[in-house]
Amino acid sequence: MHIGDVAWERAVNAGRSAHTWRTACWDDGGQVIAWGWAEGDHLSLVVDPDRAEVAADVLAWFQELAPAGVVSVLETEDHLVAALEAAGYHSDDAAPFFTHHRIPLSDLPAPVVPDGFTLRHTRPDEVEKRAAAHRAAWSDLAPSKVSDADVAAVMSTWPYESELDWIVEAPNGDFAATALIWHDKLHGIGLVEPVGCAPPYRRQGLAQAVNLAALHALREAGATDAMVCPRGDDGYPQARALYQSIGFRPGARTALYLP
Ligand SMILES: CC(C)(COP(=O)(O)OP(=O)(O)OC[C@H]1O[C@@H](n2cnc3c(N)ncnc32)[C@H](O)[C@@H]1OP(=O)(O)O)[C@@H](O)C(=O)NCCC(=O)NCCS
Repeated sequence: MHIGDVAWERAVNAGRSAHTWRTACWDDGGQVIAWGWAEGDHLSLVVDPDRAEVAADVLAWFQELAPAGVVSVLETEDHLVAALEAAGYHSDDAAPFFTHHRIPLSDLPAPVVPDGFTLRHTRPDEVEKRAAAHRAAWSDLAPSKVSDADVAAVMSTWPYESELDWIVEAPNGDFAATALIWHDKLHGIGLVEPVGCAPPYRRQGLAQAVNLAALHALREAGATDAMVCPRGDDGYPQARALYQSIGFRPGARTALYLP
């Protein structure tokens, strides 16, 4: 989990879905050692590997809330996989999954956009245009539910910074493509989430360019690496193709566990 995953998910979906969410923290002497976030019947959890035994408590809490609920972990989180198996869960190998990708920021190519297009970061007063750009890119399968208010929430949540929220502006003033990066300053890693390009502007290298521009800004802000977590299965290959074309390389994948 990157702090940006939590910030994005909470800001963009709280207005619609918070009534189905339950969260809990486990602490020891004021130090948080685990947390669980149940979004309806789906659990995300973080447990300090040095306190692996607490994973069983998080799962017991979730099972009471959602006995038929499912759990996502990263395949390399051995302590969580062991706790899931001990609690009777098994992995669903046919389920869609996400693959973590990383890129070092030391050697980034320069972004290039076609003549007439401009690369820049957003401004705090551009909520409506930023929201419209998100909806334009994210309505291929069904109209995006992301409202202006959701995007206003994103743009006012910590650790959002408009200097890391980049757009390609088309000659007519449209925001054709966007890339938002969340900067975890403690670990020097940015998370790219989300990226989009409106259908009329696709396959001109705009998503590539806006990503690169945002990654350069992230490096200038002091980070050393960036990560992104596109679908890794073949049901949605375009996102990982985009990130790999920029130089992101795949690492661990998520796994879904069923009771
Ligand atoms: C994925 C998306 C951002 C790509 O935007 P784009 O501006 O068309 O991408 P680019 O032109 O910069 O493409 C760069 C490379 O990515 C890969 N790529 C992009 N779209 C692709 C597609 N539909 N199928 C396969 N590969 C694709 C290709 O390698 C491409 O290089 P090429 O055109 O020389 O083959 C856009 O289709 C979109 O907004 N989709 C919906 C939202 C989404 O899935 N976002 C990404 C996940 S956060």
